[in-house]
Amino acid sequence: MLSLVDDTASQLSGAQIWSDTLEVLALSCGYSDARTDLTGQLSLAMTKADLSALSRAQSDFLAPAEAQALAAMKLDRRRTSFLRGRATAKIALCKAFGGAPTKWDIRSGVFNQPVAAYRGGEKPPVHVSISHSNEAGVAVSSPQEWPVAIDIETVSAQNRPALESQLTAREREWCENAPCALNAATALWALKEAASKILGGGLALDFKALETVPSLSGDTVNCTFVNAGHLAGEAVLKDGVVLALVMSSQSVLTDSNFLSRAANMLSSSLGARNICGETEP
Ligand SMILES: CC(C)(COP(=O)(O)OP(=O)(O)OC[C@H]1O[C@@H](n2cnc3c(N)ncnc32)[C@H](O)[C@@H]1OP(=O)(O)O)[C@@H](O)C(=O)NCCC(=O)NCCS
Repeated sequence: MLSLVDDTASQLSGAQIWSDTLEVLALSCGYSDARTDLTGQLSLAMTKADLSALSRAQSDFLAPAEAQALAAMKLDRRRTSFLRGRATAKIALCKAFGGAPTKWDIRSGVFNQPVAAYRGGEKPPVHVSISHSNEAGVAVSSPQEWPVAIDIETVSAQNRPALESQLTAREREWCENAPCALNAATALWALKEAASKILGGGLALDFKALETVPSLSGDTVNCTFVNAGHLAGEAVLKDGVVLALVMSSQSVLTDSNFLSRAANMLSSSLGARNICGETEP
């Protein structure tokens, strides 16, 4: 059973570690939304567990339909990303809404978007968003009426031409003026990818049309979207990894350092690395 085994509040600023076989870090934060007066809780979970640990623990968190989907996956890389995504999404869902991980069932919708439901039906409708990089899987959960999308990206010089090809001229100029253009371009890409998830189309959307209006403060990029005024994003870069969230532009998190705390935890569990030397982003 994937359950809370260690409340590490003192060392990890409110994070919790779940499972004795699978290390999944999880933390939560309240929110309020000025547009609707909605308040509630967002939960974020992350893991860098490898395929053998994930495979050993899979019966603790996979629903039967997910186990079937996994069985059809041939590549270890895909099995790893699927399991990391499901493990983190289950922990985020359990942390926000309770229940048993195996009773949360996350299917792929018609646009490949994750659609979560609780088998037995006694939970409210929820929203979940999943992302994976080579090193880690992350997920966020929130009430269905307050969707939040997540993206994780590893900074890599190899990706620079592809990233820049999806930036507008204004965005490219902004990156060139940032302390590290590669970090900045990766942050903008992560924000666009999270925006594409909350809008539902993924890469089917034109990423140039998801143009950002970014501002940089320390290791954090905040942005609005030129063509999606209802959305706002935040990306934090730590040690060569970008973590980005996109949500309602009218929403405020009760902990303004929430994403920074998550990025710090992820970076300490991944080990330090900084592609652009001292400067971030
Ligand atoms: C969304 C997308 C941009 C993410 O890119 P990626 O390189 O896979 O990056 P990430 O690891 O950050 O995200 C993967 C997760 O995004 C989620 N996702 C995929 N498509 C999504 C979509 N359209 N909307 C919201 N979330 C989506 C999934 O949960 C996926 O993880 P899973 O397959 O393990 O469940 C990309 O997967 C995509 O465009 N998918 C849709 C493509 C498609 O087939 N569309 C159908 C026609 S529109």
